[in-house]
Amino acid sequence: MWTGYRILIVSSLLTEIWMEKQYVSQRQVDPGADFTRNHTVLEGTRFKRAIFKGQYCRSFGCCEDRDDDCVTQFYEANALCYCDKFCERDTSDCCPDYKSFCHEEKEWPPHTKPWYPEGCLRDGEHYEEGSVIKENCNSCTCSGQQWKCSQHVCLIEPELIEHVNHGDYGWTAQNYSQFWGMTLEEGFKYRLGTFPPSPKLLSMNEVTAPLAAITDLPEFFVASYKWPGWTHGPLDQKNCAASWAFSTASNEVILINSL
Ligand SMILES: *[C@@H]1O[C@H](CO)[C@@H](O)[C@H](O)[C@H]1NC(C)=O
Ligand SMILES: *[C@@H]1O[C@H](CO)[C@@H](O)[C@H](O)[C@H]1NC(C)=O
Repeated sequence: MWTGYRILIVSSLLTEIWMEKQYVSQRQVDPGADFTRNHTVLEGTRFKRAIFKGQYCRSFGCCEDRDDDCVTQFYEANALCYCDKFCERDTSDCCPDYKSFCHEEKEWPPHTKPWYPEGCLRDGEHYEEGSVIKENCNSCTCSGQQWKCSQHVCLIEPELIEHVNHGDYGWTAQNYSQFWGMTLEEGFKYRLGTFPPSPKLLSMNEVTAPLAAITDLPEFFVASYKWPGWTHGPLDQKNCAASWAFSTASNEVILINSL
């Protein structure tokens, strides 16, 4: 068994050496090609094949011999792949559709323009046409190989946080996760008060009642002393646009309890 492995290792080493020789001889035959033997290119010969749906050579064209411009990023394997005749070796670095496409072609039309797969890139990742991603409060769509983003002002703007924290304002700003991804408008709408009162409500008169002649207000008062276990810290209304309701309800709880 072990000998078997060793034979396997030795034979794959020989294949590598043979391949390198092929590179070199190819280089000599074709001195015009500006071929820098590249780590990436070598790695490309060893990549694992992945299931692939796209069309490389079909969109890219097929080239004669080794042509270093006839290379494209094979995203699925994070490597380079070729559509030139030279890619057909023991350890192939051909693009996935090389065999099906380039072998069918009678002529080998050299490609005319560098071809990039459809879609967009972001942080080194490839996204298909029509993909939608969220960038803070804006959504970006990949269209015509470019990201097109909505232009909302966000509730959290990282530049503003940085600006505040670099100035001498006596306070520091930070990124509150619960506000991340909201527009400024949504912040106003949902985090602050509720809708303005209707004119009908505004035209109501306040109820006046005579105060008791003697009001006996204590000088010192702490609700949690008076009602232990019945008070709590401020509640989070979340995106409910309900600050009036929240404050009213809190006051009512106190009032009810104090009666
Ligand atoms: C070699 O790799 C560099 C980056 O690592 C790249 O810019 C260059 O195009 C590569 N050359 C070839 C022939 O692939
Ligand atoms: C702010 O917080 C959110 C949620 O935790 C995070 O996704 C985002 O990257 C943070 N932004 C910055 C600029 O730190």
